Amino acid sequence: MKVRVDPERCQGHTLCAMKAPQVFELDEVDGHSSAVAEEVPAALESQVVAAVRSCPERAISVS
Ligand code: F3S
Repeated sequence: MKVRVDPERCQGHTLCAMKAPQVFELDEVDGHSSAVAEEVPAALESQVVAAVRSCPERAISVS
């Protein structure tokens, strides 16, 4: 699984980092999220799916 956060859509709601703290990191300045690594380890995929569902801006995409 690959994951990406759309910086145009992200509004810094932080829910993604709460669902998958090992996958998403928040910018200290603006609070916006980005993926630590594009490729998600298999053990963390369910957390990423939960993060995708939690984001109110639909900023996270997986493939
Ligand atoms: Fe941004 Fe959505 Fe996470 S708005 S901080 S990607 S919950």
